[in-house]
Amino acid sequence: MSVKDEIIKEKLPRHVAIIMDGNGRWAKSKGSERLFGHKRGVNAVRQVTEAAVELGIEYLTLYAFSTENWNRPKLEIDGLMLLLMTSLESELKTFINNDVRLRVIGNDKLPKEVQKRLKSVEEKTAHCKRLTLVLALSYSSRWEITNCVREVAQKVSEGKLNVADINENIVSENMATAFMPDPELLIRTSGEQRISNFLLWQIAYTELYFTQTLWPDFGKEDFYKALVDYQGRERRFGKTSEQINN
Ligand code: FPP
Repeated sequence: MSVKDEIIKEKLPRHVAIIMDGNGRWAKSKGSERLFGHKRGVNAVRQVTEAAVELGIEYLTLYAFSTENWNRPKLEIDGLMLLLMTSLESELKTFINNDVRLRVIGNDKLPKEVQKRLKSVEEKTAHCKRLTLVLALSYSSRWEITNCVREVAQKVSEGKLNVADINENIVSENMATAFMPDPELLIRTSGEQRISNFLLWQIAYTELYFTQTLWPDFGKEDFYKALVDYQGRERRFGKTSEQINN
């Protein structure tokens, strides 16, 4: 029996976000270069995307490269960019066949040819409706929040927005993630228990799930397990348990 059978279809999250961690440690444990771990990490991305499509989850956001990751050795960064380019090329057909729309959030620091390829895949999948796969690339939450403040301030200075009208909705609408709901579930692999500058605004009421499994080993069953765990939680949003259950 698969853990999948325990999933309650009516209680699925609309949006799952994942901090994919542990590629380097996975590779090291096999006596290989870190890049080998990233390559295997792409398989895990495929598995989880497939599972999300099958289950009918609407949004899957993957933290693929943080603004801090630019501090890694050049060789690793170049390898990751190349892997991203080749993966995008090889997966485009699969995205379209499975009705998967690709969207990217992050700053504009990616190499020009990577930006071009991403834009092209975003355009070619813009009509897809089943799952929106969001890649956070050259992304950090502090960048996103700073950018949001700048955009809101710009609107105020142009007279398009009153200071008194700034509320939580205005902030959300000026985030890179404005096109989707906040995630109900955030998964982090590899045993680390921190957020690492990911979706800080959006995870105010998100359920957190940490697993020891290293990202390259993370498969469909692990994803189902996280979903079942999430479904067992009581989400109170500041209310009491009695209020929720009445
Ligand atoms: C974290 O492991 C992983 C990354 C920083 C990169 C994730 C990239 C992929 C899974 C491949 C490319 C992605 C796509 C969407 C095609 P780590 O290197 O921090 O591992 P460590 O903590 O063990 O060193």
